[in-house]
Amino acid sequence: MTYQPNPFNATLGATPPLLVGRSEIIRDFRFSLDDGPGTHERISLIVGSRGIGKTALLNDFEDEAHQRGWLVLSETATSGFMLRLRNRILRILAKNQKQLTGLSLSILGIGGGINWGTEPLAETTYSLRDALKDLLEYKRNVDVCVNQPPAGVLITLDEMHYQHTNELIDFGVVIQHLVREREEIAVAMAGIPSSIKPLLADRLDDGESINPATFLRRAARIELGRVSDSDVRQGLELPLRGSSVSWSEEALDMAVRACKGYPFMIQLVGQYSFRNKEENCITRVAAQESIAMAKRKLGQLVHEPALSELSNVDKAFLRCMSYDDGPSHISDIAQRMRRSKTYISNYRRRLLDAELIVETERGHIDFALPYLREYVREQDRNRE
Ligand SMILES: Nc1ncnc2c1ncn2[C@@H]1O[C@H](COP(=O)(O)OP(=O)(O)OP(=O)(O)O)[C@@H](O)[C@H]1O
Ligand SMILES: [Mg+2]
Repeated sequence: MTYQPNPFNATLGATPPLLVGRSEIIRDFRFSLDDGPGTHERISLIVGSRGIGKTALLNDFEDEAHQRGWLVLSETATSGFMLRLRNRILRILAKNQKQLTGLSLSILGIGGGINWGTEPLAETTYSLRDALKDLLEYKRNVDVCVNQPPAGVLITLDEMHYQHTNELIDFGVVIQHLVREREEIAVAMAGIPSSIKPLLADRLDDGESINPATFLRRAARIELGRVSDSDVRQGLELPLRGSSVSWSEEALDMAVRACKGYPFMIQLVGQYSFRNKEENCITRVAAQESIAMAKRKLGQLVHEPALSELSNVDKAFLRCMSYDDGPSHISDIAQRMRRSKTYISNYRRRLLDAELIVETERGHIDFALPYLREYVREQDRNRE
C-alpha cells in the first residue's frame, strides 16, 4: 500500500491545508499593504476564542506580506517581547552588514564589538524605535537595489495579554511614531477576548485613570467567529482532492454538522476521519468514530484550559447551565445556584466577557464554544 500523508493539520498554531471563511479579512489586509502608510488595517487586532483560527490567520497575513516582498518579524507578546524584537532586528542588520556599508545607519555607530544577541535594552540607548528605523531604511535601500516597489516591515504579535499592558503601551508609542513618520510598517496582533478586553477599556482597573493604550483601541478590530457550513464542507473536502481518499456523502454531511463552523473541529474531524478510513473511503462509521475522538481532543485542548482559568463560582454557573439542553434562563440559574439574580449577574458578565457564554435573547444565555455543554456535563459526572 502506498503511503498517503494525512493532509489535515489539527495542531493549535498550525497552518491548515485550506484556510476557509477568511477571504474578506485577508483581502482587506492585502489592500492595506498595497494602499500605503496610514491605512487603517495596517494596524490590526484579531480577537477570538481558542481554536477559532487567530494564529492561522496571522500566519496567512505573514504569507501575504512575504509575497509582497515585506520583511516579517513574528513574536509572542510575552514579557520582554520588545527586547526580543530589537535583538532580532540587530541580528538581521548584522547579517547584512556588508550591504549596509555606505549607509548612514545608527546601527553602524554601535556595531563595533557589541554582543548582538544579548545586550540588554536598558544598557544601550539603541531602542526598538531606532532598530525599526534602521531596518526600514535598510529595507528601502534593498528595495531600490532589487528594483521592487517599496515594501515594509510587518510585525505579528500573538497571544496578547493585559498582563503585559505596560510593554504593549510602550510598543504602541513606538509604532505610532513610525506611522506618523509615514513609514512602511504594519502590525497584526491577536489574543483571546478575556486577555484583550481589559486592554481595550476606556479606563484602567482603578476605574479612574484613562487607559493609555489608545493604539490598541484604534486598531482595526477583527472579531474572528465561526465559519459557514459551506466553508466547513470545503475545508473537509478540498484537501482530499488529488488523493485517492474521499468522503462518502453521508459521512461528509455528518462531519460538516459536527464541526459547527468551528475551525479547529475541521482539522480534528478531518484528521481522525482520514486515519479511520476504510480502503480509501471515509465511511459513515469512520466519521462517527472520528467525531467522538475529535470532541474528546477538543475537550483536552480547548475546554480544559478555558475552564482552568475560572473561579469555582464561574464553574458552578456553567454546571447549572449544562442541565439545560439549549439556552438557559438566567432566573433558572439563580434558582439552581440558590443565589439572587443580582449576585449571579456578576458571574454572567465575567463569562460573557470571557466569551464562554453568549446572550441568545434577553434573559437567556447559552454556551459559546461548541461541545462545552457536553464537556461540563462529563466533568460533573466525573465529580460524583
Ligand atoms: N479558517 C480556517 N480553516 C480551516 N482550518 C483552520 C482555520 N483557522 C484555523 N484552522 C485550524 O484550526 C486549528 C486552530 O487554529 P489556531 O491555532 O489558529 O487557533 P487560535 O485561535 O490561534 O487558538 P488559540 O487561542 O488556542 O491560540 C489549527 O489546527 C488550524 O490549522
Ligand atoms: Mg493561537
